[in-house]
Amino acid sequence: MEFTSSVIDLIRKRRSVRSYRNEKLAPETITIIEKILQSSSSGPFGNQVSFRLVEKSWARENAGVKLGTYGFITGAGYFIAGEVKPHDNCFEDYGFLLETVMLHLTDLNLGTCWLGGTFKRSDFAEVLGTDQDMVIPAITPVGFAADKKSIRESIIRWGAKSDNRKPWTELFFDNDFSTPLTEASAGKFQLPLEMLRLAPSASNKQPWRIVKTNGFFHFYLKRTPGYGKFDGMDLQKIDMGIAMAHFALSCDSQQLKGTWTKQNPGIPDRNAEYTISWQIVAG
Ligand SMILES: Cc1cc2nc3c(=O)[nH]c(=O)nc-3n(C[C@H](O)[C@H](O)[C@H](O)COP(=O)(O)O)c2cc1C
Repeated sequence: MEFTSSVIDLIRKRRSVRSYRNEKLAPETITIIEKILQSSSSGPFGNQVSFRLVEKSWARENAGVKLGTYGFITGAGYFIAGEVKPHDNCFEDYGFLLETVMLHLTDLNLGTCWLGGTFKRSDFAEVLGTDQDMVIPAITPVGFAADKKSIRESIIRWGAKSDNRKPWTELFFDNDFSTPLTEASAGKFQLPLEMLRLAPSASNKQPWRIVKTNGFFHFYLKRTPGYGKFDGMDLQKIDMGIAMAHFALSCDSQQLKGTWTKQNPGIPDRNAEYTISWQIVAG
């Protein structure tokens, strides 16, 4: 689906919203959201995800389940949750697709917040009727941001240093991991890389590292030491999918053509796992 605003503006505007006005969504808005969810079902690695918009009051009345976020989110009347079959790169695909959905929701002036840890996964599985062989890697609340952040929200943002991002020198590299990529040498890709840098990540750890070689941007995951899986969910792989979405959507908005391809260039770094490459398509 097309964005109505520029995706660059949407990426700059999106922030995690944890305090909501307890307000119903208009039926037209719900219809648009359902369309967005239907158009977001297949990730770049080919995994299928099915997303659902769930109204909290509906879950309580029809399934007898009180959807909970351990108090991290207040006032939200709706959530989006998705199911995926555990498979190679399913977490990256989930991150890619749900972040694209979240940018569309930003376009509708709705607030969202990635939740990978602080929600009751089993309650969501019950409401969705999730099969044993599927997982719900993460969810987001959906709604209108409250005028004022709660004190708890301000503390969470401060704790995760949510307004900061790592500098270019720590994230982007030229041919090998010892040469930082300058903004000047990134050329036309300066903007897509800057948009990648603004991506949200679990605990704001920003585990993505990108190496530019001739005709390619190679995406690597540099795991945060001691940051394990959460309930079996690989949150840092979700982070990688989110970063891929920011980069690909921004390239698209600048008419920079490219495709995802697995072409590991074998650049040595013991701490970084190769994920995928963006191959520049001359056009
Ligand atoms: C995969 C993932 C999981 C997250 N899980 C949680 C969570 O469980 N609880 C929470 O309050 N925030 C969670 N966050 C939100 C991050 O803390 C937030 O994105 C980061 O601090 C950057 O802030 P921003 O989104 O406002 O730019 C998660 C983010 C991502 C990408």
